[in-house]
Amino acid sequence: MKLSFVLFMLSVLPVHAAGNPLPQVGKAEISRGSNSQPMSISTRWASLLAGNTSFEPIDPFEQVKVMGRGVNILSGDPIWSNFKKARFQERHFQRIREGGFQTVRVVMEGFRYMDGQNRLRPAWLKTLDRVVKGAQAQNLTVILDEHDYNRCAVDAAGCRTKLLAFWQQVAPRYQDAPNSVVFEMLNEPNRQLTAPVWNSMLKETLAVIRKTNPTRNVIIGPAFWNNIHYLDKLELPADDRHIIVTVHYYLPMEFTHQGASWNKETAKLSGVTWGTDAEKHRVEEDFAGVQDWSKKEGRPIFLGEFGAYDKGEMDSRVRYTSCVARTAESFGWAWTYWQFDGDFIVYDMAKDDWVQPIWKALVP
Ligand code: BGC
Repeated sequence: MKLSFVLFMLSVLPVHAAGNPLPQVGKAEISRGSNSQPMSISTRWASLLAGNTSFEPIDPFEQVKVMGRGVNILSGDPIWSNFKKARFQERHFQRIREGGFQTVRVVMEGFRYMDGQNRLRPAWLKTLDRVVKGAQAQNLTVILDEHDYNRCAVDAAGCRTKLLAFWQQVAPRYQDAPNSVVFEMLNEPNRQLTAPVWNSMLKETLAVIRKTNPTRNVIIGPAFWNNIHYLDKLELPADDRHIIVTVHYYLPMEFTHQGASWNKETAKLSGVTWGTDAEKHRVEEDFAGVQDWSKKEGRPIFLGEFGAYDKGEMDSRVRYTSCVARTAESFGWAWTYWQFDGDFIVYDMAKDDWVQPIWKALVP
């Protein structure tokens, strides 16, 4: 394409109006980039020349291939309230890349960083920009996962308002980002977000995202904590072919969540092992069921979370982690392990090194 033609098109094309976000949201809050001013045409052009504006649509099945292996990051990290107190450092992106991963799933709890008018704090958005940049610098696919599922579970109406506000601000901010930035609408809808409630909310939210990101791949999962057995209840807009479907897998909970205080059914369990042929077969059968659904619906699969809590016996955790990852790969799915640090750790922040058995199970 001739440069003069590109310049002409840029001069006649309207700058995206950022999806007409909340009336209260000023332009400064919805602009892209790390500065707080909306991008003018000339700024957009300058960044195009600098190679920063390079979104190209990618088929979601192709995207899943590129995503490959990944890890969840930044859940509960102080970085979100105070950048200087971050546990996760920029250099960890490099460790992750060199450790054999291609993707990070960024766990964002944006709702608590909104003001009374549901505007995301500028400092929070700036942190998000830095996280995205850091991941991009290591050629990692970066999934922006809205993770306020616990709040949503107890207040569907409040969730709807905040989720729409969230994507009204975050989607336009990254509308020019390369296709390696992928949006995940909401982690694990559950309780008040029943399948019918979620089906209607997801359509509304997707419409907001589509105003500024018509062809970026968006990750959406079924109700009941992204449960594999709820895929049949998931209703996606049939004509939107830029969707990746996500599921989470922690079965059997008695093994993966033994000793986990937040899951009362299994909080007191200990000594549960894993690894019989029947147990491995169950994973294969469960995933084969998901694959049947994927083929029938023509939607690629992303296993966004799996893992076994640190309190279980290490040999069993290794068998489990390896079995789930390899089975997912055998079906051509992408996956992100739960999680880098915090709990279920694959990286020991204190030792500044991989938890070797878990890491090797993930990346043999
Ligand atoms: C939650 C974590 C939890 C994990 C396993 C995630 O979706 O955000 O708090 O540890 O699932 O239960």
